[in-house]
Amino acid sequence: MKTILTGIRVNSELTMGNFLGALLPMTRLANKYSKDNHVNIFVADLHTIIAEQDGALQDNLLMLIKMYLAAGLEVRPNVHIYRQSYVPATSEMTWILNCVATMGELGRMIQYKEKGKGEDSCNVGIFDYPVLMATDILLFDANYIPVGQDQFQHIELTRDIAVRVNHRFDKEIFTIPEKTAEQAKFMGTDDGIRIRDLVNPEKKMSKSAKSVNSKIMMTDDPKAAAKKIMSATTDSFGEIDYDLKERPGISNLLQIEALVNDRPLDEVVAEWKGKSNYGDLKKQVAGSVEKMLTAFHEKLAKITDEEVYELMQTGEKYANEKANKKLFELQKAFQLR
Ligand code: TYM
Repeated sequence: MKTILTGIRVNSELTMGNFLGALLPMTRLANKYSKDNHVNIFVADLHTIIAEQDGALQDNLLMLIKMYLAAGLEVRPNVHIYRQSYVPATSEMTWILNCVATMGELGRMIQYKEKGKGEDSCNVGIFDYPVLMATDILLFDANYIPVGQDQFQHIELTRDIAVRVNHRFDKEIFTIPEKTAEQAKFMGTDDGIRIRDLVNPEKKMSKSAKSVNSKIMMTDDPKAAAKKIMSATTDSFGEIDYDLKERPGISNLLQIEALVNDRPLDEVVAEWKGKSNYGDLKKQVAGSVEKMLTAFHEKLAKITDEEVYELMQTGEKYANEKANKKLFELQKAFQLR
């Protein structure tokens, strides 16, 4: 049995980048594989507090799990839903792995450079965040970690840490997660998913973008979301083609169209390549997004808080049993037990 695992922070509502880059692929993979593999879906609440919260963390957390259910997640016995902070072995193991990871490798992490900006006032959590993430993965011997492309560097770091620990103790303490190229393939992509900012498509779509037209939030009114697609920045080539470097705007729309409809990207590209009417493509993508969001909101409204609490409590029982065993193995190796 393999383990497929992913976590999402809950510092605000989700963007369509989070949804199409991680939540929806994870949901589809879970439904495909959870009959005979473990699927761990968790709320990265400890990762969330690297930024000050405005009082909505608990609401956002319930909403995140509801979104998985509204996206069609089939809850089977092998699907484990939990809150990261409700698995205390996570914090304990992070400390131990802090004594393995180096300042140099953490300092090279792009997310740290972007979020911490090299300032002394940057909290230590921002710097240490990839070690916490490595712990999330290694505690559960995860093989596949469906995440957006921006997290791939952290998966490579997780592999390095795991190899180092196994080597130090000459023992298979940790399962080494698959390389990022394999992770991308597992998600059905060439090199991972990176949904772009609709106004500045060289950048990724991000919660922190200033312009409301840059990002679609999963709670946006479907018609308003469609309008944002209609006003997305494209290019002046005059001919549709998929080329993320030269034509990031139009490529982003092709990617969104494929992901929303669960169609292979190649097929969508073949349908539009060479055509000159950008407006037609925008109309089609806007329609797809509007339809998807409308159905999604209808489902979301029907899921209760109680349902979510029950799922998390069941998941946390499983997660703690499993995590405590792995932690004990590591503690023994470090002569702490
Ligand atoms: P977070 O909360 O920043 O983002 C959640 C997921 O959304 C993906 N994502 C995107 N994908 C495509 N295009 C975008 N524009 C885009 N923006 C965000 C992210 O890649 C991510 O998959 N450290 C993680 C959470 C985490 C985790 C883990 C993930 C903690 N522990 C263990 C996997 C395994 C994070 O902060 O993601």
